[in-house]
Amino acid sequence: MKDGTVRTAIDTGCGVASWGGDLLDRGILTVSLAPRDNHEAQVQFALERGIPAILGVISTQRLPFPSNSFDMAHCSRCLIPWTEFGGIYLLEIHRILRPGGFWVLSGPPINYQRRWRGWNTTMEEQRSDYKKLEELLKSLCFKMYNKKGDIAVWQKSLDNNCYSKLARDTYPPKCDDSLEPDSAWYTPLRACIVVPDSKFKKSGLTSIPKWPERLHTMPERISMVHRGSASSFKHDDNMWKKRIEHYKKLLPDLGTDKIRNVMDMNTVYGGFAAALINDPVWVMNVVSSYATNTLPVVYDRGLIGTFHDWCEAFSTYPRTYDLLHLDALFTAESHRCEMKYVLLEMDRILRPNGHVIIREHDYFVDGIAAIAKGMRWECHKEKTEKGDEMVKVLICQKKLWYASNKGSR
Ligand SMILES: C[S@@+](CC[C@H](N)C(=O)[O-])C[C@H]1O[C@@H](n2cnc3c(N)ncnc32)[C@H](O)[C@@H]1O
Repeated sequence: MKDGTVRTAIDTGCGVASWGGDLLDRGILTVSLAPRDNHEAQVQFALERGIPAILGVISTQRLPFPSNSFDMAHCSRCLIPWTEFGGIYLLEIHRILRPGGFWVLSGPPINYQRRWRGWNTTMEEQRSDYKKLEELLKSLCFKMYNKKGDIAVWQKSLDNNCYSKLARDTYPPKCDDSLEPDSAWYTPLRACIVVPDSKFKKSGLTSIPKWPERLHTMPERISMVHRGSASSFKHDDNMWKKRIEHYKKLLPDLGTDKIRNVMDMNTVYGGFAAALINDPVWVMNVVSSYATNTLPVVYDRGLIGTFHDWCEAFSTYPRTYDLLHLDALFTAESHRCEMKYVLLEMDRILRPNGHVIIREHDYFVDGIAAIAKGMRWECHKEKTEKGDEMVKVLICQKKLWYASNKGSR
């Protein structure tokens, strides 16, 4: 797909994220996802390589992404039992794929006729798994798109015709309306089909503009957001262009290959990431689990991100990001947990010599600077691009330091 139709992907069971790394070079942004299991620090390895990755597992809770978001999902030898437990794991892939999105599978049981050996199973077992998989995918309205050698590709239905034709007592059942499709923060998995909202006609893979037009086109799902409108989207997009221009003056490393792994800790529409699109960075866009859900807009623009509650640890290893950006997070959420805990978590995930851009109400800035000094960050307080009195920009660098050994022997 070289024509910009596929722009975002998720690799479940990513290993060291070579699939996502290869696609990144082709202009496709992948969230590589794996737990810390017997494969050890695979996600840390991926982030060390400068490839977007987060810790995560398909298990009992929904993945922290909205519905109908990824253009493509992939599993290579991830051995997730897709057809077990009423198809609950595959139903989660179905939920997060956008209409028309691709489901790419390799490893058992694909091409079991030639590849069944070496997985502690028999050809008969794998044949039966493959048949079950085919049936389950059909009952979720996926269609076989292509199959060649060791790789099989299915496509999620582009419209709702197939779902409306499913029998009333279809299995797996359709989810009832009480289950919010985008609720994905500590939301238990349920073995039911999330049918896409038919009101969104332009969010399917073939109706959404192709990359890169997609980045600056107002997504129709902005209408789900309170006050989301064409003018608020345009305004946000222009505002971030100006802010990034200013931030590059305050932090000249931004836009150079010294900064690669970037997190926008509380984005609205992904404007910070969009304004950095021509730079050698990738941005993990985080939408607070307590804020308005704007993550579908981020995905519709062809950017990637996750939900998170900043009163908790983020699903990553220590020292994995080069730059953290935060815009009025404390103004919005300081009543929920103490500022020092958020700052300590930022210190954990920031690489030594990494940078932080904090844009906050002046009321918080000196308090933040005092805690930052205690963590041995070097900070300078700057004006915003508009020279506001009430809002300031704090630019900090985490210093490389070692604990003294004195008294430890
Ligand atoms: C054999 S490795 C394959 C890695 C890589 N896809 C490849 O083909 O080289 C299996 C991968 O699946 C991941 N995995 C296993 N169960 C998982 C689950 N329930 N959710 C997410 N990842 C899982 C493992 O952590 C590991 O990354």
